[in-house]
Amino acid sequence: MLDTLEFIALCTDMSMKNVNPTVKTSPPKDEILLQARGISKGFPGVWKNLILDNIDFDVCAGEVHALLGENGAGKTVIANILSGYYGKTTGELRVRGKLVNLQSPRDGLRHGIAMVHQELMLVPAFTVAQNVMMGLNSANFTFPLRAIEKQIDQLSTHYQLHVDPTARVEDLSAGEQQRAEILKVLFHQPNVLLLDEPTSLLTPQEADHLFRVLRSMVEEGKGIVLITHKMREVFAVADKVTVLKLGTTQGTQRIKETNAEELTRKTFGDTVPDYMERPPVQTIEMVVEVKNMLPQSVIQHKSSDGISFAISKGEILGLAGVSGNGQTELIECITGLRKVKQGQIIMLGRDMANRPPREFIDLGVAHIPERRREMGVVEPMLVAENIVLKDYRTAPFSKLTILNRNKITNHAVRIVEQFNALVPDLWMTESRILSGGNIQRLILGRETWRQPPIIVASHPTEGLDAKAIRQTWELFLELREIGSAILLVSEDLDEIMSLSDRIGVIFQGRISGIVNAKTADRAQLGHWMAGNEGNIHGYKD
Ligand SMILES: Nc1ncnc2c1ncn2[C@@H]1O[C@H](COP(=O)(O)OP(=O)(O)OP(=O)(O)O)[C@@H](O)[C@H]1O
Ligand SMILES: [Mg+2]
Repeated sequence: MLDTLEFIALCTDMSMKNVNPTVKTSPPKDEILLQARGISKGFPGVWKNLILDNIDFDVCAGEVHALLGENGAGKTVIANILSGYYGKTTGELRVRGKLVNLQSPRDGLRHGIAMVHQELMLVPAFTVAQNVMMGLNSANFTFPLRAIEKQIDQLSTHYQLHVDPTARVEDLSAGEQQRAEILKVLFHQPNVLLLDEPTSLLTPQEADHLFRVLRSMVEEGKGIVLITHKMREVFAVADKVTVLKLGTTQGTQRIKETNAEELTRKTFGDTVPDYMERPPVQTIEMVVEVKNMLPQSVIQHKSSDGISFAISKGEILGLAGVSGNGQTELIECITGLRKVKQGQIIMLGRDMANRPPREFIDLGVAHIPERRREMGVVEPMLVAENIVLKDYRTAPFSKLTILNRNKITNHAVRIVEQFNALVPDLWMTESRILSGGNIQRLILGRETWRQPPIIVASHPTEGLDAKAIRQTWELFLELREIGSAILLVSEDLDEIMSLSDRIGVIFQGRISGIVNAKTADRAQLGHWMAGNEGNIHGYKD
């Protein structure tokens, strides 16, 4: 944690060594930096059972410790306890051998423990630098903002986590916000860094890059906890792994002594196949035709002729791209959340450009948004209310403006069961207390149960565990089979390549090529994602 003098020194000396994590004295390797023993946690009210039951967990210097577990297993809750965000109910925490009672995240930072949260914790109306400044011990608005901006620039260059420190957070894409969140935490030069699903919005290349950064940090003696659902990441970067299952630990193992199959079994009690059969597209009836569309946007991309693409009935069009390249604006335009400057959005034969969101909903355009907590649900509302958020005005859920609670309950139970969501009580639980993956399950259920003719899905499997990802992919293929036209926007090339019939790449507000998924080449897609245009295909491949 920076004290005032250290902070002023940081602000006045702009040399790289200030943002280089090696400047702090490093703990010796293998030292237990953070030790948790017998941690249990319950929440008052809704829960009869403990959320965490008697967890032991160590973070050692020089190690990346992966934390695995299905949605709702308790990964975020334990990380919140280790970093001071939540109090524990029982058990003890020691930092470098000394018993501590962490009362707040600031307490955690004071002991050198920092956490990058699964859901972003930035103030949208502030710039990246102002957000960083807020977390500093002695921050007030007399500190030179320019100096902090420069420091962030240097940090972001050093770690190649590119973000404009002067940009307002609300103008950044989800991926850029995630990078900002990571930089905010790195600014504190923590000894123990907890990262809760940090790669969900990063491209595989960015994720690999982050892992190199994490490896260099552990080489310096830091201890890192990586919460993830991706086995690839566990084996790419971790030294140890602990599996949580319904709030209990399944034990800690060295990575060298285990394998993906064993870890999957420990997580789910079963293995999860990953190959998806994909029958060819049945029809060529165009359901969505976007023609020369330019979103109204503060960011001016180089494209002047706008975006054009089409999706036929029963087709999945995958749109890959590094976040911040116009995906958000595009999605908002084709769901009615943003106005267009020019062009047409023909859906089921109607030009929907600049129509209000309600008309898109009534037409049957489902939207699985990025930023699920902000855009996907109304967090303070109850689970049952969120499940009928788009349907409550119509039969059978209401008649003459009176809600039919029984029908809503039956419907919500069906969705919760179908999507295996962990929900304590439909009419008592606020959506905000659900785990990230469980919120995503509810959104998927709400948006797809009507079998909509058009689905706009942004990172639909973000935060889901491997079993739920598999179920979601199957659901998308079923919907495709019965005729839904699906736009799948994702940075996850595996997902795009597994599901799509055709694949496009968006770069700086422009679709650089649409290719047949069967012949798509990963390397070529990667080039387009990086802005290297190469051989551009027309939009009707
Ligand atoms: N403030 C709270 N009040 C009541 N229950 C809570 C609260 N916070 C979390 N929970 C519950 O604790 C359980 C564990 O949640 P947690 O967020 O740790 O899961 P997770 O393993 O991180 O899952 P995911 O992979 O979906 O992120 C969930 O069932 C969640 O609903
Ligand atoms: Mg979580």
